[in-house]
Amino acid sequence: MHLIHRPRRMRADSFSRRLARETLLTRNDLIYPVFVCEGSGEQQPVDSMPGIHRWSIDRLIDHLQPLVDAGLQAAALFPVIEAERKDPEASEAVNPNGLAPRALEALATHFPGLGLIADVALDPYTSHGLDGLVDDKGYVVNDATVEVLVEQALVLARAGAQVVAPSDMMDGRIGAIRAAQEEAGMVNTRILAYSVKYASAFYGPFRDAVGSASALGKADKLGFQLDPANAREALREAELDLDEGADMLMVKPAMPYLDILAGVREISDLPLFAYQVSGEYAMLTAGVQNGWLPESAIHESLLAIKRAGADAILSYFTHKLFSGLPQT
Ligand code: PBG
Repeated sequence: MHLIHRPRRMRADSFSRRLARETLLTRNDLIYPVFVCEGSGEQQPVDSMPGIHRWSIDRLIDHLQPLVDAGLQAAALFPVIEAERKDPEASEAVNPNGLAPRALEALATHFPGLGLIADVALDPYTSHGLDGLVDDKGYVVNDATVEVLVEQALVLARAGAQVVAPSDMMDGRIGAIRAAQEEAGMVNTRILAYSVKYASAFYGPFRDAVGSASALGKADKLGFQLDPANAREALREAELDLDEGADMLMVKPAMPYLDILAGVREISDLPLFAYQVSGEYAMLTAGVQNGWLPESAIHESLLAIKRAGADAILSYFTHKLFSGLPQT
């Protein structure tokens, strides 16, 4: 053979492979999602997410300390609300003394440089497990829900979240939150829009972790989250959030939706994040724990998400991988 093109030449030695490498995963790329519960001294394992726990505020601080020391830039907080505090109106979501605001205050005091991302959605707080207020037919009503989300976002920002992250998929919530923040003089509170959030089966373990699975029962979220079959609709959602004033966009889940991530990357210059969700974590962890997959599959999954266009990734593997990643 007389070949001009032999792409394997560059792969022949470590030095040229390294020089040609296009994507590098570093400590600055990971955001750690954490579950916080009431009490003190609590460390409750999440059965469907081996290695992940619900922490009381004091233990969460202990858990995060070494990561923050090693350069963790941001954590995303998810509260586990006690069943007796849930109601159909999600009243607890706007309680300034609720679990999420108390946790944010403690974390902001203890870790002044850490980015704190607070989820804005009503599902941890509703007795029916849906992300918004429902009418008598069980339909999640949009505009009334947005009013509560706006209030929730202000409460979370006042408690210390520099970033609020609406994960509810209501129409118009980014614009409404942005307007309320301007009104309140919170000009630097950033909005991370879960712009493209699919109605995905991969959220199963998360719903166990925060206890919304039992509340949700057989109901589903198809009336507001995106149909997994759709890609054009995803781009439209991203464009709307851009127009409404989002600072960062997000695609979720991550690995089953890399085409969407790459597509949103093309239409937007905003920082773009991806959420490697609980089901992705459970799947990879099961593979590794059973000896069916080498542990390097975890790093590969994150590298693939970054290569597809993510600037940063929310990943439950942050804790496990962190010390092995380069610091930049
Ligand atoms: C709540 C919310 C969910 C996740 C993040 N915020 C669950 C859902 O929409 O049912 C999922 C995260 C994960 O699976 O890791 N709105």
